[in-house]
Amino acid sequence: MEAIALIPGTKKIRLVDRPEPVITADDEIKIRIIRVGICGTDREEISGGRAMAPEGYKDLVIGHEMFGQVIATGKNTTRVKSGDFAVLTVRRGCGKCLPCHMNRSDMCETGEYKERGIWGLDGYQAEFVVDHELYAVKVPEEIEPTGVLIEPLSISEKAIHEALGLQFARVPGAMATPLWLNGRRCLVAGLGPVGLLAAMALVLRGAEVYGLDIVDANSVRPRWLTAIGGRYIDGRQVPAARLGSEVGSFDLILEAAGAPDLDFNLLEALNRSGIYMVTGIPGRESPIKIPGAALIKQLVLSNQLMAGSVNASLDHFQMAVNDLLTANLSWPGHVEKLITHRYPFKVFLTAFAGHPVNEIKTTTEWWGGME
Ligand code: BGC
Repeated sequence: MEAIALIPGTKKIRLVDRPEPVITADDEIKIRIIRVGICGTDREEISGGRAMAPEGYKDLVIGHEMFGQVIATGKNTTRVKSGDFAVLTVRRGCGKCLPCHMNRSDMCETGEYKERGIWGLDGYQAEFVVDHELYAVKVPEEIEPTGVLIEPLSISEKAIHEALGLQFARVPGAMATPLWLNGRRCLVAGLGPVGLLAAMALVLRGAEVYGLDIVDANSVRPRWLTAIGGRYIDGRQVPAARLGSEVGSFDLILEAAGAPDLDFNLLEALNRSGIYMVTGIPGRESPIKIPGAALIKQLVLSNQLMAGSVNASLDHFQMAVNDLLTANLSWPGHVEKLITHRYPFKVFLTAFAGHPVNEIKTTTEWWGGME
């Protein structure tokens, strides 16, 4: 079968011929890939950044945001059957720590996990994949056009779910409010797919959502946001360090930009008892200057929480499915507009090159699905 592979640490990506995977265990399923999304992590990988080939191999099949159709199942499978649309999670556990034993490798404690298409395991830019059913979530037909967005949305779902859980733990009385987010001012920083999908999940939970980026208000990303009721803030007009004083402060900030200097500046806009979830992974690691003492003082005196969140569990994937179903009813046809560019997999070089201004999500298209 054909697959797109990278020699980690280099910029060498090419179409390779790999053996077609076969089911070898009763709990495995075989999926034919329909499309795969490309994100910042993929582009970081193919520019020589963070990526690791499977043990004993020189190259890594990339891609971790997949959507496909089940074409075969082992005898002991119960949740998906042939013909179902499905998505697979990304991380595979270390097999040593408790979270990994509980299928919560997104919280792995040893750091010895693997990630399909990123770290030590082949990914999904290929014609077929085989994996354990345990890692699959079934995708209802109604959201077939947006199924490829489940993985990036799962990242936002985890961050939001954690934020809610942490607030409830800190102020149990808040449990009396059925929806803590309802009417709360939330800021999403960085309007890439993860940020826009986070904005969508927050709007669906009744929040007053603001999105921050540095693009023109009439370009695709801000327009997508405002169409679902979000408000756009152009960071070139309102500097991050003055956001709170100029636009008002926020109970929840969800960062999806991967820009550390911006991240720390945004603390100015965090409300008392507010929570700040960081999901962006900076590509560069050059040091930045921050007013450390003042920020620590603010965190303590205002009971603020800043937490990092990475990857997602099967439950977060399921939450993403549920939100996409609701979003489809709330704004029919709108979510799929996030997919702005589609390329046949053979022209992957163009797909990976990127289109900064009018691009939201680019996909490689592998197969049209069964009739
Ligand atoms: C992926 C996550 C992964 C993270 C770190 C992100 O782009 O969506 O699944 O855990 O990169 O490798």
